[in-house]
Amino acid sequence: MKNNLSNIKKAKNILDHQDCVAVPTETVYGLAANAYSDKAVKKIFKLKKRPQNNPLIVHYHNIDDLKRDCEINSDFLKLYKKFSPGPITYVLNLKKTSKISKFATNNKSTLAVRFPKHNLMKKLLKLLKYPLAAPSANLSTKVSSVCFQDVKDDFGNKLKFILDGGRASVGVESTIISLVNKPQILRLGGLEVSSIENCLNKKLRLKLNSKKISSPGQMKLHYSPGIPIRLNIKKPNKNEAYLLLKKRNNLKDNYYYLSNKGNLKEAIKNLYRTLRKIKKDNFKSLAVERIKNQGLGKTINDRLLRASKFNAK
Ligand code: TXA
Ligand code: MG
Repeated sequence: MKNNLSNIKKAKNILDHQDCVAVPTETVYGLAANAYSDKAVKKIFKLKKRPQNNPLIVHYHNIDDLKRDCEINSDFLKLYKKFSPGPITYVLNLKKTSKISKFATNNKSTLAVRFPKHNLMKKLLKLLKYPLAAPSANLSTKVSSVCFQDVKDDFGNKLKFILDGGRASVGVESTIISLVNKPQILRLGGLEVSSIENCLNKKLRLKLNSKKISSPGQMKLHYSPGIPIRLNIKKPNKNEAYLLLKKRNNLKDNYYYLSNKGNLKEAIKNLYRTLRKIKKDNFKSLAVERIKNQGLGKTINDRLLRASKFNAK
């Protein structure tokens, strides 16, 4: 615990000096900087090689801090009470008086905000006088980081400090809901859409791609381990890694599985770590068995489908 406290203070010191630190959250690791500082936020984009027009999520300790920057509404309050802190991000209108850097929002009048549950991140946010802008701590288009070593593998010595909070317990990014107009889901994630629908007592529209997709090649490449992926495969090729949802008795050397018995929470937690492992084990391509498109299975399929756009690159 003492060690954690000194590490949190070290992270604070670097952040106070307008620099970036990788931070643990329960979803995935974030690449964090002072959301009120143009200089600090610009460093995130540079390190991540992220396009300037892709806005960042800003992380707050609690609702009181949020109210300085954003307008809230009744749907937000319902969801906040039930699911925050946790794996859900809200898109809200910015207040005119907000101090959020325009580089974090790409000059938009809205802001994506989240309240992380991870203990170290909560403690860090509490100590700071500003919220933290933090995209996932991975290189743009690649698989997100779910532990210290993943961040180290991606950024090496380019990052001054990684706050080690162990392995991410959710293992996939937050679910994003826009509450600016009619509520709609912008990204599937670690919180099931049906739970959100139950809380708001209404069916939600899904708007998962900013451009209307007329051919699969138009879909943005994302979450890619850097090798071609084939989906819904019954029989893999020789020399190809094969990803299963559930462990089998007759596992071969090239077989990887996401869960022991098909539990989707366990599977999602293992998804990015397994994709990274397959790449590290030097496989040049990956086949995935069909995964039922239900509950969190939808999030897994969403990520694998986007990752498979590597093929069309
Ligand atoms: O779990 C998570 O959400 C992680 C952890 C670190 O909190 N963060 C994360 O950030 O996944 P990132 O930058 O990888 O994804 C943020 C997504 C992007 O797709 C971005 O386009 C969208 O949020 N976004 C940000 N601001 C937005 C806004 N004002 N309106 C709509 N979408 C927005
Ligand atoms: Mg990301």
